Amino acid sequence: MSQDWFAEIKRLIEEINSFQITDAAALEDFRLKYLGTKNQIKGYFAQIAKVPNEQKKEYGQLVNEAKTIAELKFENHTHFKQSEKKTAQKISDYSLPPIEKANGTRHPISIVLDRIVSIFTKIGFEVVEDLEIEDEWHNFTALNTPADHPARDMQDTYYLRDFSDLLLRTHTSSVQSRFMTKNQPPIRILAPGKVYRNETISARSHCQFHQVEGLYIDKHISMADLKQTLLFFAKEMFGPDVKIRLRPSYFPFTEPSAEMDIYWGLKDETDHRITKGTGWLEILGCGMVDPAVLDNCGIDSKTYSGFAFGMGIERQAMLLYKIPDIRYYFENDIRFLKQF
Ligand code: DAH
Repeated sequence: MSQDWFAEIKRLIEEINSFQITDAAALEDFRLKYLGTKNQIKGYFAQIAKVPNEQKKEYGQLVNEAKTIAELKFENHTHFKQSEKKTAQKISDYSLPPIEKANGTRHPISIVLDRIVSIFTKIGFEVVEDLEIEDEWHNFTALNTPADHPARDMQDTYYLRDFSDLLLRTHTSSVQSRFMTKNQPPIRILAPGKVYRNETISARSHCQFHQVEGLYIDKHISMADLKQTLLFFAKEMFGPDVKIRLRPSYFPFTEPSAEMDIYWGLKDETDHRITKGTGWLEILGCGMVDPAVLDNCGIDSKTYSGFAFGMGIERQAMLLYKIPDIRYYFENDIRFLKQF
């Protein structure tokens, strides 16, 4: 019987020692249980009257020890309470500046892409998205670029290691062939998306970037329609005073082909750098869809004609937001991203 008193108090000490205090709530539980006004240790003190006289001293020492252990343990964990207190003080002191709320921002590529889409949807273009892992036929062959065609060298391609026919699309023009094999004219689509090329990463080029493809196929479509459409776009995008110029160029899937530059001017150093000191910046390739491409995709080239264009998004965003280096887009640096 007399042993029980000691066994009980030892169990209490063990309990106190093994109590896990991991946060402010646990600390408060601990305090209520062992140090508060109705704490358990008090109960043990109260029982001292029942303990046989010859054991009272030892029993009393053990209860005191339990109390000391509990107090020390509490003291050792008060940092939990303090951190809570600090936050509470912060919130209740209204003279302090507010805690900044970390709202996300839109990526400049998304902002510019949305603008491009809204401009073209105004004149009846419909947005279409398709595969990024493409086969050679849709990315090259259908677009008049057979396997031995020198134009395939124009784009360093990422092929999938175990599927020699599959690649990461090198341009959004692959969406043209995807769409034309499944749909008959009239076709008026806009295809935005990511494209990939095996290029050395530098301030001006990257192995991954974004393009928007446009395709318009119907009866009696001419180069004049193409030029008018692009002029409309340039004015909406860069302002009514923008100048454009079409320079003859070569693409296997268009004939004739051109590249379009816009005149941005040379207002500051970034303009100089981005336009290489000319004030002009090439923003897209375009042309009249080669009749062979229409035939490859099952559209009668004697009845229909059309134009196509493909534009880069990064460059336009560079110009609009004065971004000097293409690598910023993909680094996810908050200091860059939160400026938009
Ligand atoms: N696909 C071309 C490129 O990535 C851009 C392009 C040029 C797209 C002419 C077109 C086009 O649709 O007609 O460089």
